[in-house]
Amino acid sequence: MAPSFADVKQAVALLVDPWIFMSLSLSCLPRTIFSLLLAGQFSTLFSPSRLQEVWFGRFWSFAGPNARFHVEKRVVPLLEGRVSAGRILPESATNDDTASSGNERVSGVVMEIGPGIGIWASVFAHPALSPTILQVYGVEPNASHHAELRQRVVKAGLGDRYEIVPVGIENLESSGRVQRESVDCIVSILCLCGVPEPERNIRELYSYLKPGGRWYVFEHVKHGSQGVRDTGRLMRYYQAFVNIFWPTAIGGCELCRNTGKSLMEAGPWSKIDLVQMDGEPTCKVLPHVYGTLTK
Ligand SMILES: C[S@@+](CC[C@H](N)C(=O)[O-])C[C@H]1O[C@@H](n2cnc3c(N)ncnc32)[C@H](O)[C@@H]1O
Repeated sequence: MAPSFADVKQAVALLVDPWIFMSLSLSCLPRTIFSLLLAGQFSTLFSPSRLQEVWFGRFWSFAGPNARFHVEKRVVPLLEGRVSAGRILPESATNDDTASSGNERVSGVVMEIGPGIGIWASVFAHPALSPTILQVYGVEPNASHHAELRQRVVKAGLGDRYEIVPVGIENLESSGRVQRESVDCIVSILCLCGVPEPERNIRELYSYLKPGGRWYVFEHVKHGSQGVRDTGRLMRYYQAFVNIFWPTAIGGCELCRNTGKSLMEAGPWSKIDLVQMDGEPTCKVLPHVYGTLTK
């Protein structure tokens, strides 16, 4: 059956979407440079990696809350243990119901990877989750996010229960802040696309989970990679083309990672519930793997 006009319009919008996102980020660059000049921070200005961090920090300050608006209907149920096989279970599902389908809500000692400006802090503080969360470690290397992250943590009322660990996951061990096999839950939301040496560092993170610990995942991945359906060569090539520009414009984020595979092969899991998000259109340039892995 030939696609309708509405289908074509939606496909075009989805294909153009990453370019709009990149232009929004680019529009933050002149102001970033100007404010660094004004502050006399010349060493940051002349260090490409530091400049990219500060630039991304400024961009995510305004894009992050908007990103939350679009994905919270997926992320909140995931953290509440209401996602199974990429589908969201009804809100009435109790923890016992969800446990019988294999998922539980986030609880105990939690490690949030790459929390950015802390747009998910208020979810940890929600009455449905807060009572069973003992401690959250927010592993965030970008110092430009820290002030806003701290503000959101305080506003959410998490106080001392949320500790910012100011390093990348590759330096977690040397930070000495978290012990191996001490974490009940790892939460990674749109961040494994930017970590260095993903296979090695995802394996490293696995070692921080207690036996029986859970890893909650919402990550965009390569088209046709493990966990997402193969949409054919055209989408793979188009995604690879966008990825020529994307990492520079979006703070080092990579589009073509096989994160599902890296997660599944990080170590032995007793249960893997990680698939493509239900209902994602074929032309979406950033398809997602979504779900929970249990050690
Ligand atoms: C696209 S932002 C997402 C932030 C947040 N999870 C959210 O949903 O708003 C990606 C985050 O990953 C962080 N990140 C990059 N490299 C990292 C690393 N090596 N270890 C931990 N986090 C990292 C970035 O600093 C950034 O905050």
